[in-house]
Amino acid sequence: MHGTDHGHRADHGRGDHGRIPPQSIRNVVAQTDMLAVVREVVELKKAGASFKGCCPFHAEKTPSFHVNPGLKLYHCYGCSAGGDVIRFVQETRGLNFVEAVEFLAERVGITLERVAERPEDSARRAEAKSARGRMLELDRAAQAWFRGRLQLPEGRTARAYAEARGLTTATIERFGLGAAGTGWTDLLDHLTRLGFQRDDIIAIGLAKVGDKGGTYDRFRDRLMFPIYTSAGDLVGFGGRDLTGEKEVAKYINSSEITLDSEEENSRFKHFYKKGDCVFGLWQAREAIRGSKTAIVVEGNLDVITLAQAGFANAVCAMGTALTDAQAKEIKRFADRVALVFDGDNAGRKAAMKAVPVVVAAGLEGSYVVLPQGEDPDSFVRKFGVDAFRELLEKAPPLIEGYIDALVAESDHSLQANAVILQKAGPLLTAIQDGISRDMARNHLQAQLTKGAIEPHRATFDRYLQGLAPPTQKPEPPRQLRPDPTFGEPEVMILEQDVCAVLVWYPALCRHAEQYGTLDLLEHAGVRLALRDLNAIARDEEVDADKVAAWAQALPDGRARRLIMQRLVGAPPCAPDKALGWLVQVTWRLKERELRGQREQLSQRMKQTGLPLEELVELQGRKSDVERQLREFAKAGARQAVEAASGI
Ligand code: UTP
Ligand code: MN
Repeated sequence: MHGTDHGHRADHGRGDHGRIPPQSIRNVVAQTDMLAVVREVVELKKAGASFKGCCPFHAEKTPSFHVNPGLKLYHCYGCSAGGDVIRFVQETRGLNFVEAVEFLAERVGITLERVAERPEDSARRAEAKSARGRMLELDRAAQAWFRGRLQLPEGRTARAYAEARGLTTATIERFGLGAAGTGWTDLLDHLTRLGFQRDDIIAIGLAKVGDKGGTYDRFRDRLMFPIYTSAGDLVGFGGRDLTGEKEVAKYINSSEITLDSEEENSRFKHFYKKGDCVFGLWQAREAIRGSKTAIVVEGNLDVITLAQAGFANAVCAMGTALTDAQAKEIKRFADRVALVFDGDNAGRKAAMKAVPVVVAAGLEGSYVVLPQGEDPDSFVRKFGVDAFRELLEKAPPLIEGYIDALVAESDHSLQANAVILQKAGPLLTAIQDGISRDMARNHLQAQLTKGAIEPHRATFDRYLQGLAPPTQKPEPPRQLRPDPTFGEPEVMILEQDVCAVLVWYPALCRHAEQYGTLDLLEHAGVRLALRDLNAIARDEEVDADKVAAWAQALPDGRARRLIMQRLVGAPPCAPDKALGWLVQVTWRLKERELRGQREQLSQRMKQTGLPLEELVELQGRKSDVERQLREFAKAGARQAVEAASGI
C-alpha cells in the first residue's frame, strides 16, 4: 500500500548489467495496472471506455487527458502527449526507458532478467543512466541506511527521541523515519562501498567537503525525515537535531540541486527544491482524496503527530512561506485547506502570507488560530484530539479569518482600513461561489464599519459593490490542430476514419487492400503505417496489445499521434458495422480523388496558349471524370446500404 511501505521502491538496477529481453518488458507491462500507475500522478474519472483527468503535461482545468486501461495507452487531446505506460512513467518521473521498466517491474514484483552483453556495451549502458535516476537511487540507498540505523545501537538516541515525542512504531514506519548516527563518514563509506560516486553524494547533500578538504557526512546525530514528491519519489531528507545544542540548526535539509542539461525533460531540472515539495503529501493523499481537504501546518512533526492522532490529511511546507508551487501540488488532491499556523507571531505572519497564495491556487478553506505558544503537535498533546477537531470545525472561512487578523492588527484608522480593503478586496473576487462571496463581502464591510470610515462610507461601499464577480478566466479554446499535411479538414477526417476502423478491426486490412483504400490516403505517414499494419495482420492474428505495441513504435510522429488518439478513444462503430464503415470511407476517398483530378484538369485547361488538340483531350478526360462522379453520387446511397448490410 502507498504511504506505508517505503521500501517498495528500494534500490534497484544498480549493478545490473545486460539488456532486458523484450519478453520481460512485455511481461512487466502486461502485469501492470496502468490506472493505478497514472492515479499516482493524476486524478481520473471514468468516461465511457476510457478514463479522463487533467493532463499532467500541460496546464488545464477541464480534463482532456485520456487513459485506456485495456490497451494501456494514454493520450491528451489538449497537447497531443501520448504513449504507453512505460512512456508515462518516463515522462512523469523523469526517467529513461530502462529505468521506467525497472520502476514498473519493481511495482509488480518482477525481477528482471538480463541478457548478457559485451562488456563495452554494458559500460555504455551504465553511463546511460539518467542523472535523475542516479540521484533517486542514491537517496533510496541512503533511506535504507537511515531506516536500518534506527534499529541499531547507533540509532539509540534517535529512537529514544521519537519515543519521547510519542511516536509509535507504525507512525515511524508510515513516514519512513530513520536515524543518522554520530560517526563522521559512516554513510559516505557505506554509499561509496555500494558503488555510488563521491561527487553525486556531495551534490545531493548527503556529504560535504570541510574547510580542510576532508569529506564527511552532512547529517549527523539527527532524526531523519524522508521527503517525497506527491508522486512518491524520494528526493530529499530533513534531519532534526538530537543534541539540543544551540549552535546547530534545529533542522537541516537536503541540498537543492539542479540537474544539468543531459536531462531532456526540463520539468525535472530541479531534483530537490524545498519550495516545490509538500512534506507528508505522499502519505496524506488517500485521506485528502476522501475528504477533499488538506490540513496545512508548519512543521514536520506536526504533520506526523496529527496523522497519528487520526488527521491523516495533514501536510506542511517545511517551515517556509507556502509557495505557489506547493499550493498547486495540494490543489491536485484537495479542494479545501484548513490553514493551521502556530500561535506565535511568526506563525501568524506565515498564515497571512499563505492565504493569498492558497486562494490564488483556487483552494477554499478555513483559517485556524492556535492559542499563543502552541503548535498543532503541542496542542493535541495538551488538549486532546477532540479539542483539535472542534478547533477545525469552528474555524472561520479562510478569507474571513484573514480579514479578522488584518483588523486585529489595525488601529482602525482610515488609512488602515484602506489597506485592509486593498489586501482583502482582490481575494473576494477569487471566491467562485456567489453566496460565500457575498458573505465574505458583508463580513469585510461589517469589520470596516467598526472603524473611522463613516465620513467615507460611500467610497468604501462603492468599492465593495464594485468588486467584480470572479474572473472566470476562459480556458484557451481547445486547439483543433488540423495536421497541416492533411490539407483540408475533410481529408483529415477521412484519413482518421480509415485509421480508426483498421486499428480497431485489423482483420479488415485485407479488405482495405482489396479495395485499394490505402492507395487513396494522402498522408504518407498514415499510408505507410497502415500498410505496415496490413503486413502484420496478414501474417498473424493481431490483438489489441499487438496493435498498441505497433502504434507505439511508429516512426512518423503525426501518424503515431493520430493512431494513438484513435486507439485511446472508443471504437468508431460496432464490429458488425465495421466493414460497411470501411466501404463507405473508401467510397468517399475515391470521390475525393476524382474531385482532385477534376480540379487538376480544370487548372491545366486554364493555361494560356494550349494547343487545340491538347485542350480537346483534357476536356475529354474531364468529362470522363465528371461522369464517374455523377455515377458515384447516384450509386452512393445504394452502395452504402449494401455495404452496411455486409457485402
Ligand atoms: P519548527 O521550528 O516549528 O519545528 O519549524 P517543529 O516542526 O515544530 O519541530 P519541533 O516540534 O520543534 O521538533 C517548522 C518546520 O520548519 C522547518 C522544518 O521543516 C520544521 O518542521 N525548519 C525549521 C527548517 O527547515 N530549519 C530549521 O532550522 C527549523
Ligand atoms: Mn513543534
